[in-house]
Amino acid sequence: MTDRLGVGFVGAGFNTNFHIRSWQGVRFADIKGIADPDISRAKASADECRRLRVGDPKIYKDVSEMVLDPNIHAIWICAPNYTRIDVMKKISDAVKSGKTNLVGLACEKPLARNAAEAQQMVDMINELGILHGYLENQVFSPSVTRGREIIWRRGSHIAGRPYLARCAEEHGGPHEPWFWNGERQGGGVLNDMMCHSIEAARFLLSDPDKPRNSIRPVSVNAEIATLKWARPEYIKILQEMSKGQVDYAKAPAEDFARANVNFEDEQGNIMVAEVTTSWSFMGPGLRLSFELIGPEYYMQVNSLEPDLKIFFSRAVSGDKGEDLVEKQSAEQGLMPVVASEGIVYGYTDEDRYMVECFLDGKMPEENWNDGLLVTQLLMTAYKSSEISKKIAFNPEAIKDYVPKVAKGTYSARDVLKTAE
Ligand SMILES: NC(=O)c1ccc[n+]([C@@H]2O[C@H](COP(=O)([O-])OP(=O)(O)OC[C@H]3O[C@@H](n4cnc5c(N)ncnc54)[C@H](O)[C@@H]3O)[C@@H](O)[C@H]2O)c1
Repeated sequence: MTDRLGVGFVGAGFNTNFHIRSWQGVRFADIKGIADPDISRAKASADECRRLRVGDPKIYKDVSEMVLDPNIHAIWICAPNYTRIDVMKKISDAVKSGKTNLVGLACEKPLARNAAEAQQMVDMINELGILHGYLENQVFSPSVTRGREIIWRRGSHIAGRPYLARCAEEHGGPHEPWFWNGERQGGGVLNDMMCHSIEAARFLLSDPDKPRNSIRPVSVNAEIATLKWARPEYIKILQEMSKGQVDYAKAPAEDFARANVNFEDEQGNIMVAEVTTSWSFMGPGLRLSFELIGPEYYMQVNSLEPDLKIFFSRAVSGDKGEDLVEKQSAEQGLMPVVASEGIVYGYTDEDRYMVECFLDGKMPEENWNDGLLVTQLLMTAYKSSEISKKIAFNPEAIKDYVPKVAKGTYSARDVLKTAE
């Protein structure tokens, strides 16, 4: 193994471009390859790598070619959710042929569209016996990691462990049509964004000195709804934006989801993760919120309360953009600006950590087993919502379950149904 890691990216979209910008804070690794069937996107991302001096990547149409490059030691899987299994099979075949130098794979959230696919991802990587990291950036966000460290070091050892984590991620809706399609994405906002909030809550509630599975999910109570995007005027906007690919009159996905996940520790202490996510949020842009509450202490993070705010009067009406904050929805008035989104959202520390683990031959603490557990919790949440009941967390019971949203049989009026 070399002392510098050569990294290849699968997919050259929105998310990979976040990683590329964040790579400026990563040492001992260069971006050596980018694979995307859309070569123009791969080229644009490669140009950005050169501009930022984070690598001089070769571009590929297909991951099967990139993985054979001897300079590629690790791959970051950042293509759409519906390609996960196909991408992983291609990587797996190449590794099994013995012609690669691959030591590790990192996969973006969610690990897969449902529990069966996530299990397949874990089975495939276990068969290869290489290292794996789950790219859940929020558990690397500096405010979250620092807050957790202080709370657990100063607060919990004196006053007792925290009992309630409240995490939320909200914005006005995703940037590409495939996210809105239940079948391709795996669901709606619950699948897309609750994966973050559940894992962030589990991270905050768990003792940093113990393995993450020292707290055990016991039950889930959830609800989904389509509050904004099933209204006729917004159905039309979605149809236009997606050039007819997305029709919420026929097959909507949820744009709001909330869940309570109840946990228990080894001593029988009870903890609650209260998580909520939406694509129907209206505000300046993406809002990430984290709260951790214990007997004598409290921490809070709100990404829309940064130190930098900028005001433009009504005389300044510029072009639409996302230059102030991700999923920005306004250009006038007093607006929060997240000065370095890659750092604040956790990408930089996440990428640096994964690189160090792969170079050291160490299994990342945040790995595909965590991605599988998160997917199992998400599926349990969908099922709870469908039957309007709190249900036990039992991976066996949801191993082949596919949510109605992903099957195209969900109706925006389902939220009005009750258990009795
Ligand atoms: N951590 C986060 O906060 C975060 C944010 C956004 C997206 N994501 C995740 O990252 C992944 C990608 O999302 P995105 O926003 O970049 O999507 P995107 O649609 O912006 O980009 C996806 C790219 O993948 C390419 N692609 C399609 N099929 C491919 C294949 N078989 N092999 C290689 N490339 C392929 C597309 O051409 C496109 O350029 C998703 O799984 C998403 O959930 C995570």
